[in-house]
Amino acid sequence: MCGIVGYTGSKKASPIIIEGLRRLEYRGYDSAGIATQEKEGIKIIRSVGKLNNLIEKLSQTTLLGNTGIGHTRWATHGKPSEVNAHPHKAGKFVVVHNGIIENYLSIKNKLVKRGCNFESETDTEVIAHLLWSYYEKSQNTKEAILKTVKELRGSFAIAILNEDEKESIYLVRYESPLVIGVGENENYFASDIPALLVHTNNIIFLKDGDIIKLTPEGYEAFDFNGKKIIRLPEKINLSLSQAEKGGYPHFMLKEIHEQPEAFINTVRTRIKPDTKEVVFDEIPRDIFKKVESIHIIACGTSYHAGLIGRFFLEEIAGLPTLVEIASEFRYKKNFFNSKTLYIFISQSGSTADTLAALKLTKNNKVSTLAICNVLGSSISTEADYTIYTHAGPEIGVASTKAFSTQIAVLFLLSLQFGFYKKAININQLSAFIDSLLKIPKAMEKCLKDSSKIKQLAQKYYHYNNFLYLGRGLNYPLALEGALKLKEISYIHAEAYSAGEMKHGPIALIDENMPVLVINTKSNQHEKTISNIQEVLARNGKVIALISEKDKVTPKYTKDIIEVPQINNYLDCLLSIIPLQLFAYYCAVLKGTDVDQPRNLAKSVTVE
Ligand code: F6R
Repeated sequence: MCGIVGYTGSKKASPIIIEGLRRLEYRGYDSAGIATQEKEGIKIIRSVGKLNNLIEKLSQTTLLGNTGIGHTRWATHGKPSEVNAHPHKAGKFVVVHNGIIENYLSIKNKLVKRGCNFESETDTEVIAHLLWSYYEKSQNTKEAILKTVKELRGSFAIAILNEDEKESIYLVRYESPLVIGVGENENYFASDIPALLVHTNNIIFLKDGDIIKLTPEGYEAFDFNGKKIIRLPEKINLSLSQAEKGGYPHFMLKEIHEQPEAFINTVRTRIKPDTKEVVFDEIPRDIFKKVESIHIIACGTSYHAGLIGRFFLEEIAGLPTLVEIASEFRYKKNFFNSKTLYIFISQSGSTADTLAALKLTKNNKVSTLAICNVLGSSISTEADYTIYTHAGPEIGVASTKAFSTQIAVLFLLSLQFGFYKKAININQLSAFIDSLLKIPKAMEKCLKDSSKIKQLAQKYYHYNNFLYLGRGLNYPLALEGALKLKEISYIHAEAYSAGEMKHGPIALIDENMPVLVINTKSNQHEKTISNIQEVLARNGKVIALISEKDKVTPKYTKDIIEVPQINNYLDCLLSIIPLQLFAYYCAVLKGTDVDQPRNLAKSVTVE
């Protein structure tokens, strides 16, 4: 939920840390702070609000230290304020933390009884006090860390400075992401790779239960029992430009435009060019044969991708499929089945509810598969099998390219299951793949046609409420379109299955309630036309998203968005583009913070 970053080497640490925080600001932005090892001791500067406030404060002070840590916060315990901003200090220890310490209150009560004074309302401050209380006795940092982590429950990525060790940074990872960037006589760490790419491509993905001592010369790795372990760097094939805005005014717009490329990267290695067969080296073949049903679990946009995937898996592969919201799944009675494959979808791979649902499922000795975008993330390492979407870093808080690449993976999985289960033959498989390969060009076309979407946004952005309707595959798409609109433009938008409108929402329809109807080609096209008529009969305003060849819907409304027509299953990958763009342009016209909408964070590592 928060972003942490740090450096140790021969350069001045503070500019490197600020640059890293800038790239991590998408993870939280209600306060920020930095601590560096200075001659006179560790100096901490913190500021409430966005990173620019911290930068402003830094301009009035001098930080010369070559070792330091930084933090950008998304508040969980304690309101956004300077005193609650990280880093937190106790004795000679200074810490930054991403995650949540579930048992912090009992630890805090114990420490208060022993005479500790707490400055903040955060859960993090207990870590600093625990470290200091153990260190005071042993004067051994590693030992203090080992004792501290044994007391913590929850999820944590922690970076620790000790005033007595001027060049060392200690790192701990448990269920919150943390990566090390290995340089020459200098080393870095961060919550996510984009913060490091400007410095190095040599990345170590820490695992749950890792403790690292980072110095300019190198690093040592231990487990929570203090035993030495080996962690080796990998060369990461990501460029800095993939993590920068590249001329676009917002990351979100850049990421919307990256969808054709992201889609190609996701499917490329999974289709044999000569035979057009699907390959998933990540999953043993017997899974495709053995599995008799699917259970998908996810949150937010990833959940919507799962709802779309259900149509593929049921209709193409003939596999009964359930889709559930992770925060619901983890607290209800579940009937685990050894012939069911449990699929967990998560862009970040660190969503707390999805991770908890995955752990719960694994405890029941069934097969689990993760579909993730972030390499080395908790969900991807926890699952039995992982398929990466290869969408590249998604920085804008609103998920866009992750969604379309998740759909691509779910489609390919359905083809593979369908083929193994003989629900489709080789000719059908090949025809589906032909359609799939047409998608990137068609996406480009949708992106080029954005002037129409801009005009519609201009016409509609001042409305306070929207209804999104769709049937079949277009219903989850309506859910996703409405989510995009509300999260970045703060316009209230509700999505309904078009057939449900008559059961209640129709009462809302009047001239102040624009209705965006997704009615691309499907076997429910005519029924949706009837719904459009029902809206118009009540003075509702209709924006219709349709397939290019549809000559019927334009008879009912002038506000039309057209997308190419390729295949009934795959057209959702095209319709999503104008939905994302419409939300984007409404938000820009309203002047909201598109990439960092209020109250949100990119990865939700709290319940
Ligand atoms: C919406 C959005 C969120 C995420 C949700 C799950 O644009 O980004 O709804 O989809 O928080 O996140 P992941 O996919 O990282 O598990």
